Amino acid sequence: MPQSNLAGGSSVPLLRAENIDVQFGGLKAVDDVSLDVAAGEIVGLIGPNGAGKTTLFQAISGFVKPNRGTVWFDGARIDGLGPVEICRAGLARTFQIVEVFPTLTVAETLTAAALFRVKMAEAKKVAAEVAHLVGLGAKQHVLCRHLTLPDQKALEVGKAIATRPRMILLDEVMAGLRPSEVTTVMALIRSLRDKGITFLLVEHLMEVVMTISDRVVVLGSGRKIAEGRPEEVAANQQVIDIYLGEDLTRA
Ligand SMILES: Nc1ncnc2c1ncn2[C@@H]1O[C@H](COP(=O)(O)OP(=O)(O)OP(=O)(O)O)[C@@H](O)[C@H]1O
Ligand SMILES: [Mg+2]
Repeated sequence: MPQSNLAGGSSVPLLRAENIDVQFGGLKAVDDVSLDVAAGEIVGLIGPNGAGKTTLFQAISGFVKPNRGTVWFDGARIDGLGPVEICRAGLARTFQIVEVFPTLTVAETLTAAALFRVKMAEAKKVAAEVAHLVGLGAKQHVLCRHLTLPDQKALEVGKAIATRPRMILLDEVMAGLRPSEVTTVMALIRSLRDKGITFLLVEHLMEVVMTISDRVVVLGSGRKIAEGRPEEVAANQQVIDIYLGEDLTRA
């Protein structure tokens, strides 16, 4: 009797980026990068400042058109699609530089994100659910311009969740947070993964990346220089060399 492979070892990855190049004038910000993320995985993407992490996110999420390479999500080609179509396919993202709508409340912002997929009555329900999920349940009627940075970051994650994604790209959502707030966000990511959401996350806080990730991909000067389980990557000499002199715990 044939055995099914529930672990997914031989199945198609949820996200596959192949040979991605992104060129800005004379600078190759992303240089021939390939990576796979399986459904249910949490993959960490690390590398020094300017390594190309955000640019790779831009290329995967349709904000920048790669100069070369293909991106597959859930079995379909998505490179060439715009950000809205990619989000509709179930791939959401957060932004490293958080920008809130200053005159909207938390509830209105989350409702707007939820309207992406459902009608108004349902969107309001989704917004309330998501607000509680990301710890903003008591602040639903607060104007976004009055939110603290941690609350803005929580809202950023909430906006992504409200679009009902299968996968979320998180770009430094923990930067600038206090240790207790970092712990809260890590618990949230784990609980969402348990609900079936897949994550690719950029984070400079090494102890966070190494603790939460199933696998880690390392970029240096636009190229993928290492990939593996956290302990393998942490022991990789090339990785140690590129991080030499950097404070790996900077928030
Ligand atoms: N829109 C752009 N136009 C021109 N150059 C860009 C643009 N966006 C990024 N770059 C350059 O591409 C390189 C990669 O930048 P990117 O923001 O992807 O790095 P990163 O790994 O996210 O860094 P950080 O850890 O500081 O966020 C950098 O040299 C950056 O200056
Ligand atoms: Mg970045």
